[in-house]
Amino acid sequence: MSYDRQRAQAFSDHVLDSFNQAASCLMISLGHRAGLFDILDNKPAGTIDEIADWANLDARYVKEWLGAMVCAKIVEMPDPQRYKLPAEHADFLTRRAAPNNLAVFAQYIGLLGTVEDAVLKCFVEGGGVPYDRYERFHTIMAEDSGQTVLPALVDHILPLDPALPHRLESGIEVLDLGCGAGRAVNLLAKRFPRSRFVGLDLSHNAINRARREAADSGLKNARFEARDLTNLHETIAENAYDLITTFDAVHDQAKPLHLLKGIFRGLRQGGTYLMQDIAGSGHHRGDIEHPIGTFLYSISCMHCVAVSLAQKGDGLGAMWGRTQAQDLLKQAGFTDVVVHSLEHDFQNDYYLVRK
Ligand SMILES: C[S@@+](CC[C@H](N)C(=O)[O-])C[C@H]1O[C@@H](n2cnc3c(N)ncnc32)[C@H](O)[C@@H]1O
Repeated sequence: MSYDRQRAQAFSDHVLDSFNQAASCLMISLGHRAGLFDILDNKPAGTIDEIADWANLDARYVKEWLGAMVCAKIVEMPDPQRYKLPAEHADFLTRRAAPNNLAVFAQYIGLLGTVEDAVLKCFVEGGGVPYDRYERFHTIMAEDSGQTVLPALVDHILPLDPALPHRLESGIEVLDLGCGAGRAVNLLAKRFPRSRFVGLDLSHNAINRARREAADSGLKNARFEARDLTNLHETIAENAYDLITTFDAVHDQAKPLHLLKGIFRGLRQGGTYLMQDIAGSGHHRGDIEHPIGTFLYSISCMHCVAVSLAQKGDGLGAMWGRTQAQDLLKQAGFTDVVVHSLEHDFQNDYYLVRK
């Protein structure tokens, strides 16, 4: 076979560019956390010292960050001394831009970097990395679902089952599994005061946040418990709930099938299970054109698979795919499953499952 020099050069450029993209991701994350994008938003072009002053940050670091932002073509320099974040860029990088603030998702790259050594050890020895090694996970996850789930929950996600809003108004029993920091539960509990909500999650840290938010909002109809859901199929009260939800919480469980069997057992006849989970084809070749395939497989490798295997679980991974999800739902006992895609969220599928 002949060696294609042009192809080799193009590949080397492609790899070099990925260094820039990866580095820019870290800098976007820093800019988000330091509040720099929010400070630059709607401001006239400023010098390094002015920007550091506006943001109350160290000018030496701000200077280097601006260098990265200019090279990444995120911040512009209208003259040799001053820097400006264009409005068209601020619309995707600032807190006021939520739910379109892409900077939120850039934080995952920094988070994954903190566990690189531990994941490398798993490549060699097998096993996993426990959830509590991912220090900022629940903070980032709450920001993530604060954009992908919360703004669409009442008007787009619940009405996938047209009867749900009315049933929630009149008062039903709701369970959210793998609830994380409980933001979906708290929002629904506020909106539907006659219904009663329970959120369960392995993480004490996340459950404490959920309880704090519920207490601050004076909610009497939301309850949270730290619980390992690995054996939910044996422990859940039978026919106890009218609605069960999971938001991005099935694939990284230790035993996803046990969870789904538990949901089947816990739902009353006529009840609804709403599952939001990552939209993947279930096949590497099928995911080549996925707009953020590399990103999702990387999160899966360095988090979803690792946390599940750390619990001696199945390690399904985020890209388990629609076919496998439908198969597990069937094994759990569900026969009425409809998969929806919602316009606001190309990253996830929404499964409307009825018992
Ligand atoms: C990707 S996060 C989603 C959190 C939340 N639903 C959201 O959308 O913000 C998955 C959640 O599953 C929880 N989880 C993982 N394994 C678990 C287990 N064995 N038992 C209970 N919860 C578990 C994690 O603590 C985490 O909060």
